[in-house]
Amino acid sequence: MCDKHNNGVNCFSHVDSGLPEVMLSCTVNGENVCAHIDPTMTLLNFLRRDLKLFGTKEGCGEGECGACTIIMNSSAVNSCIILALEAMDANIITVEGLNKNGKISILQREFISNDALQCGFCTPGMLMSARALLDRNPEPDESEIIEAIAGNFCRCTGYVPIIKAITSASKIEREGMKND
Ligand code: FES
Ligand code: FES
Repeated sequence: MCDKHNNGVNCFSHVDSGLPEVMLSCTVNGENVCAHIDPTMTLLNFLRRDLKLFGTKEGCGEGECGACTIIMNSSAVNSCIILALEAMDANIITVEGLNKNGKISILQREFISNDALQCGFCTPGMLMSARALLDRNPEPDESEIIEAIAGNFCRCTGYVPIIKAITSASKIEREGMKND
C-alpha cells in the first residue's frame, strides 16, 4: 500500500494537470459520449469519475492486476494505463455493457452458478477478459482460457471455478447460436 493510501487519500484520483481540456468522443456501452477532459486523465478515471461507471475497479493502477479490464475495439485492455484520449473514436464496453435488456448475460450467470466469485473485486475485469476471448474464439480450450485471464489476479477463488464458468458459458452460447 502506498503512502497516500496509508494517509487515507485515494492515490488514483485524477489531479487536473492545468493543461487545456480536449474533446473526447467515443462509444461506451453502445452510447455516443462526448466530453471535455484533462488530457492526462486515464481511461479508468474517465469511466469511473466522469461517466460514473463504477463496475470497472481500481486495483494496482499500474497494469498488473487486471481489475480495471475493459474491452476497447474488441480487445481486453487495462484501462488504468491508457489515457482517455487514446479512446478517441473507440468502441468501449465495460461490465455494465454485458447486461442485455436488463438481464445479466450468460457469462455473468455462469460465474454465479459456478461460484466463480467470492469478494467479487476481480470479477468485472475477469468477465471482460473472458468476454473478449469468447467474442474472438467461441470454443476456447482450457489453455486458451488460462492465457486469456493470465493478467487478471484473483485472491479468492483459486481460478478453477472461473475456468469452469467460462467453459460452461462458451458451451451455452454456442448452443444458443445453433438454436437461433
Ligand atoms: Fe489496472 Fe490493476 S488497476 S491493472
Ligand atoms: Fe475475490 Fe477474485 S473473487 S479477488
